[in-house]
Amino acid sequence: MFYMMMRINFKTILVILVVAVLSSILTSWNGCGTGYFFRSGHHHRDRLANVEPGYQEIDCNINGGYLISCRREGDEVYIPFSFIHKYFEIYGKLVTYDGLERFEWLHSYSKIVSPKGRYDPRGVFMTFENYNVEVRERVKCVTGLDGVPMSTQWESQGYYYPTQIAQFGLSHYSKNLTEPEPHRKILEDGDKIKQDWLVPQGSVMSRPYDVQTNSYVLKYASPETSTSGISLSLDHVLSFVLKLDLSIKDNGSITVLMQHREKRDFYHLHYTTTNIPLQSLNNHIYYGIGSTNNLWRRLTRDLVVDLQKGLSFNDKGKSKKLSRSKLKLLKIILNGSGKIDNVSLSTSEHMEQFYDSAKWFVANQNVSSGGWANPVRRKVANGMGTLDPGWYSAMGQGHGISVLSRAYYHSGEERYLQAAVRALKPFRIASSRGGVEAMFLDKFVWYEEYPTTPSSFILNGFIYSLVGLYDLKTIASGKDSLEAQELFDKGMLSLKNMLTLFDTGYGTTYDLRHFTLKTAPNVARWDYHSTHINQLLLLSTVDSDQVFGITAERWIGYMNGKRAAHN
Ligand SMILES: *[C@@H]1O[C@H](CO)[C@@H](O)[C@H](O)[C@H]1NC(C)=O
Ligand SMILES: *[C@@H]1O[C@H](CO)[C@@H](O)[C@H](O)[C@H]1NC(C)=O
Ligand SMILES: *[C@@H]1O[C@H](CO)[C@@H](O)[C@H](O)[C@H]1NC(C)=O
Ligand SMILES: *[C@@H]1O[C@H](CO)[C@@H](O)[C@H](O)[C@H]1NC(C)=O
Ligand SMILES: *[C@@H]1O[C@H](CO)[C@@H](O)[C@H](O)[C@H]1NC(C)=O
Repeated sequence: MFYMMMRINFKTILVILVVAVLSSILTSWNGCGTGYFFRSGHHHRDRLANVEPGYQEIDCNINGGYLISCRREGDEVYIPFSFIHKYFEIYGKLVTYDGLERFEWLHSYSKIVSPKGRYDPRGVFMTFENYNVEVRERVKCVTGLDGVPMSTQWESQGYYYPTQIAQFGLSHYSKNLTEPEPHRKILEDGDKIKQDWLVPQGSVMSRPYDVQTNSYVLKYASPETSTSGISLSLDHVLSFVLKLDLSIKDNGSITVLMQHREKRDFYHLHYTTTNIPLQSLNNHIYYGIGSTNNLWRRLTRDLVVDLQKGLSFNDKGKSKKLSRSKLKLLKIILNGSGKIDNVSLSTSEHMEQFYDSAKWFVANQNVSSGGWANPVRRKVANGMGTLDPGWYSAMGQGHGISVLSRAYYHSGEERYLQAAVRALKPFRIASSRGGVEAMFLDKFVWYEEYPTTPSSFILNGFIYSLVGLYDLKTIASGKDSLEAQELFDKGMLSLKNMLTLFDTGYGTTYDLRHFTLKTAPNVARWDYHSTHINQLLLLSTVDSDQVFGITAERWIGYMNGKRAAHN
């Protein structure tokens, strides 16, 4: 999977650090006095305080290759942190707390969150309550057709990427369990709560009983030629997740008028019956919700996300930040004819968005193969064959299973369970033949995030697929559970045997291409390294094998600058 880079913002050359302190940190793990990169003094900090102030400029010769400017103070030499930052990929920043300014040194830019208890497939998924999938730059928009994100990562016009859709679902499920209760306000339910809609001449509105849904609903018709439509004026702030049930005729639309409270700009969000995910012209943004003719469906829209994505789309993908607190909702406008019901505004609708994801996985599965196709061409590395559109990912399958297991647990609806069980099929088919199963040295089964030839053996995607299998084996019962368990057990056996192949002694590798392609290792950046650790910590709560806890601890050490001992 791919993260946004979250490097600590490093400012210019500000800080100079004591070299002796640096070298002792760098070598503290191997506990060996030789091999200091910079060893020019052995003063203690408190002795330095007595040294006369003032310093001399001095050149540092870097491995005989080039010179940089350093400073000398007595026997001590100080090296600019900006140099150290680049040279060692060490992070640091000036911070002030307790009324004191300090320099904070960080070996890595990631953090580890220890699990609070045994992992529960009914609960939060990893640390996904912190994910905001839809605001990522490589998400074009959340479509009005399905309510799931559309990716632009590998193809700019946008496509459905199962892994991303699952992460969207799992993040909303996890947020539902961790966030405070949302504020909800029902605007109109056609029955107990009614509003004074402005119905212009030539338009009509009524609140008949709808037998299909056993509910009073709001029925309206406004000629397409109407310049104003039927409207409801509001002066609404802060809760911007719109939810409504609707059944509107072709060519109809629902428009939300928003305003920026400082800039005074107006924005029109139009939800129309087209199939075009996103169009935008000036401050008019159009989301296609597809045809709904005579069928009721629920539409859940985070208006701020829709607005941001629309404005970014206008500006050729340049990400737009809009603060929720700066926006105001002024009007809801109905155009054309149709019926609506249960119109509400909330601070969040996590379960609605979770179920949009779960329903996508049911509706978009190849029922005979059990796979969710990745509709893009993908080249993982030189020397590996290109994946043609339609490939399956063990990570996408596993994540999809994690979503569906939770949906089945939460709703009790069999269709979610059935789709999850079907999704096991590609786990038994070789990656070279359209499945996701690879073999390591003809001995250990591996589920491939990318089913490349030769195999890539990507660690994080494999573990995510195992988590999916674990979820299903836990939530399902009988033979469904056993089927998932068998795949899970085989994968865990491989992981226990192969885990340390990813250990470099100071970090981890992302995959095993150094073995299959005989190239340099693909070292995991800290984001992925910390994902590896978080995954091991999760597994250590459900499997008693010591290898997970012990390895995780060593890998955490690497993030604090420790290294494996050398000979
Ligand atoms: C979580 O979902 C339940 C419905 O399953 C809902 O009642 C509750 O308000 C939601 N809470 C949050 C924080 O989203
Ligand atoms: C509106 O919500 C009520 C209560 O949840 C439900 O019974 C009704 O069917 C909903 N209306 C529509 C049109 O779905
Ligand atoms: C209603 O929709 C038609 C096209 O379908 C459009 O020309 C007209 O401007 C719309 N009116 C409003 C008030 O949005
Ligand atoms: C929608 O608009 C198209 C083109 O203007 C028209 O042919 C079609 O009849 C309209 N459909 C409805 C249900 O009004
Ligand atoms: C679904 O999977 C089957 C079996 O692998 C395959 O033959 C078929 O082409 C797939 N269908 C689609 C629409 O991709």
